[in-house]
Amino acid sequence: MKKRILSGIQPSGEGIFTLGNYIGAIRNWDIMQEEYECAYFIADLHSLTVRQDPATLKKQSLSAFALLLACGIDPEKSLLFIQSHVESHAELAWILNCYSQIGELSRMTQFKDKSSQHADNINAGLFTYPALMAADILLYQADLVPVGADQKQHLEFTRDVATRFNNLYGETFKIPDAYIPKAGAKVMSLQEPAKKMSKSDENKNATVLLLDDPAVIMNKFKRAVTDSEKEIVFRKGKDGINNLMTIYGVLADKTNEEIEKEFAGKGYGDFKTAVGETVADALAPVRAEYARLIADKAYLEKQILEGAQKARAISWKTLRKARKRVGLLELPRS
Ligand code: TRP
Repeated sequence: MKKRILSGIQPSGEGIFTLGNYIGAIRNWDIMQEEYECAYFIADLHSLTVRQDPATLKKQSLSAFALLLACGIDPEKSLLFIQSHVESHAELAWILNCYSQIGELSRMTQFKDKSSQHADNINAGLFTYPALMAADILLYQADLVPVGADQKQHLEFTRDVATRFNNLYGETFKIPDAYIPKAGAKVMSLQEPAKKMSKSDENKNATVLLLDDPAVIMNKFKRAVTDSEKEIVFRKGKDGINNLMTIYGVLADKTNEEIEKEFAGKGYGDFKTAVGETVADALAPVRAEYARLIADKAYLEKQILEGAQKARAISWKTLRKARKRVGLLELPRS
């Protein structure tokens, strides 16, 4: 039996993924699909915890779905769907809310951060966000959840609430573990190379987005911060050059020694151009596939519908069990 991996991503913007996400994770999803049973979804209900423009949210949910397909998620092998199309999520979230304590939810650092960022809209959804995330995960009996540092506390909460429920009513939910990818190169900001590349960086030149066009990519690499030396070598203290070497090494499949040899005697300018071109070339197929998919509405709609149907069937099994456990009367058969 393959282990089940599940992850959700909020539909925030067309460039939902960065080069960092790509090199660290998405690039390996093809292989992961063989090794694991994968489920991915667009977490649009979570996005509602912050005020959204309705038309934009709708458009971005579709873009995000297409982009996941363009990155190689194969709907024949993996489950791919939009959270709000599967009613079980909201329903299990309600049940889990009743097993979540105000004290533990108050300790969530994301809640504290977002409450201070959006002081004019500290809504109940923001507070119970972790219960919805727990529902997402537990409905599919996921073994592994790939999460970044910012979501680790929510995964811990998921484990706590699932364990509490299982202890009260008997085995209902699988307790999920965090998934730490085997080999995932870490990509740093192009402007402050001691910091991780992040899509929320205010300096647009710090981050390469998957759908950036080639000219923009070249520009960002040309402006990449390096150091005042001249040598292209991987060495402690040369964060900028190290980062460019990492990116180039992964995408061109070269070791640091090979890169050092290739660029011996050459300047930083040449090297930055080479890295920029390599990145632009590597992302070209994703951009092309995205453009093709976003224009093929019929195909996208078919995948969205099929994904929702499969997800409904799988999640209903767990939801039904949980409903019975807590004593909700079953609907009589007609
Ligand atoms: N909260 C996650 C984020 O903002 C997205 C998410 C929602 C998620 N449900 C999930 C991630 C379930 C993993 C599993 O990044």
